[in-house]
Amino acid sequence: MSDSYKINLSEAELPQQWYNVQPDLPRPLPPYLHPATGKPVTPEDMLPIFPLDLIMQEMSQERWIEIPDDVLEIYRLWRPSPLHRARRLEKFLNTPARIYYKNESVSPAGSHKPNTAVPQAYYNKVAGVRRLATETGAGQWGSALSFACQAFGLDCTVYMVKVSFYQKPYRRSMMQIWGSEVFPSPTDRTEAGKGILAQNPDSPGSLGIAISEAVEDAAKHEDTKYSLGSVLNHVLLHQTIVGLETKKQLQLAGEKADVLVGCVGGGSNFAGFVFPFVPDKLKGDNIRFVAVEPTSCPTFTKGAYTYDFGDTAGLTPMMLMYTLGHSFVPPGIHAGGLRYHGDAPLLSLLVHEKVIEARAYPQNPVFEAAIAFARTEGIVPAPETSHALRAGIDEALKCKETGEAKCIVIAFSGHGFLDLAAYDAYIEGRLEDFEYPDSMIHEAICKIPKFPG
Ligand SMILES: Cc1ncc(COP(=O)(O)O)c(C=O)c1O
Repeated sequence: MSDSYKINLSEAELPQQWYNVQPDLPRPLPPYLHPATGKPVTPEDMLPIFPLDLIMQEMSQERWIEIPDDVLEIYRLWRPSPLHRARRLEKFLNTPARIYYKNESVSPAGSHKPNTAVPQAYYNKVAGVRRLATETGAGQWGSALSFACQAFGLDCTVYMVKVSFYQKPYRRSMMQIWGSEVFPSPTDRTEAGKGILAQNPDSPGSLGIAISEAVEDAAKHEDTKYSLGSVLNHVLLHQTIVGLETKKQLQLAGEKADVLVGCVGGGSNFAGFVFPFVPDKLKGDNIRFVAVEPTSCPTFTKGAYTYDFGDTAGLTPMMLMYTLGHSFVPPGIHAGGLRYHGDAPLLSLLVHEKVIEARAYPQNPVFEAAIAFARTEGIVPAPETSHALRAGIDEALKCKETGEAKCIVIAFSGHGFLDLAAYDAYIEGRLEDFEYPDSMIHEAICKIPKFPG
C-alpha cells in the first residue's frame, strides 16, 4: 500500500446518482402522519412547503436517483472531497489501527451541509419558487443554504436560534455575505414565535422553535417554500454523495472498512456516510456503524422510539423516530448542531433494527479528542465532528489493547474555525459536562401526544 496522506477522486469520478436506502431497508419505513388528522401524509399535504421533486424523492423507492447536471456543476466547486489517512494521529495514538477521515470541511460553508442545500435550492428554483425559509442552530445549515440560494438566484430567510445569533456572529455574517436575511428566533414575525415570546420573553430559542417559525413563514407565503437541513429522507439521500465517494476511495486505497463512525444531530452526515455501506452489512459483511451523540442530547441512547413532531409547535408531520420529546430544550452545549430532539426516521429504523449502534459522550472528552486531532492532523474540527473523532479515537485505542489492525473511517463533517469560543472555554477549563437527567427526559416524552389524539 502506498504511503499517501490523501486519496483523491477526479471531478470526472464524481458520482452521478444518489443512493436511496429505502428499497434496501429490513422493513418499510412507516409513513409520516398528518399533525391534525393522524392519517398518513400525502404528497398534496406537503406541497405548501416543499416542491414536488423533493416530495417525490422523500417517498421514492427507486434505489438510484440521478443528480441533475446543474447540481453536479456546483458540487464540482469542492467535490469530490478528499479521504485522508490520519497517519500522524495513528502515530500519536500508537495504534495498529488504520484511521481514515472523509473531509467535508472543504465545502464553501465548511461542512457537509451544502451537499443537500444545493439540490434543495435547485429543485425549488426549477419549481418557480422565489424565496426559501429555514432555521439554523449554530449557523452551519443557514450558511450552507444561503450559499446555495445565492448560486441559484433565490432569496433566503433564516430563523437563527437566538442564543447562537448573539454568540456566533460570524456565521450570521456568512449568511449575510451570501445575501440572506437573518432573524434571531423566537421572533414576532410568526404566530409560533409570538406564542413562545408571550410565555417567555427571554427564551433563548431552540431548533424546534425556529423550525416552527420557518414552516409557518413558508406556509403563509405563496412564493416561499421551506427547507430543512437534516432529518428528512431527501436530505439524507443527497448526503449519500459522501458515502459513495468514500466507497470508491477505500477501494482505490485497497481498504475494506471495519468501522464507520460519525456524529448525529438530525442524522444527515452520518446517514449519508454509512447508507451506501448498509446493503453490504445486510448481506453479511462484517462492518460496524457507530453513531455518536452528546450526553446532553442523548436521543438514540436515552430517547423513545415513537411518533413525534419535528418541531416545538407541532406544525410538522409526526414521524416515527427516536426522540426526547418535541418540548425538549437542550442545554447550551457547544456542539449546537447536535442539539435536536429527534433523529432521522430512516436512521432511527436502522438503529432500532440494530444495524447501527449508538453511543454518547460528554463535551470534555470530545474536546480532548478535537485537540489531539488538531495537533496531529492540523485541521481544527467542528465541535459536532469532534464527537465522531472521540469515538474513532476510542476505537483505535481499543485496537491498541487487542492488537487488531482495524480500518476505522470517520465522517469529518466540518471545521471549527468559527467555533473557537468553545475551544477557549475548553482550554480555560470552563466547559461543563452535562448528562440530561432521566426524569426530565421522561417528562418530555410523556408530553408527546398519542394518535389518534
Ligand atoms: C459540522 C456539523 N456536523 C454535524 C452536524 C449535525 O447534523 P447532521 O446530524 O444532520 O449531520 C452539524 C449540524 O449543524 C454540523 O454543523
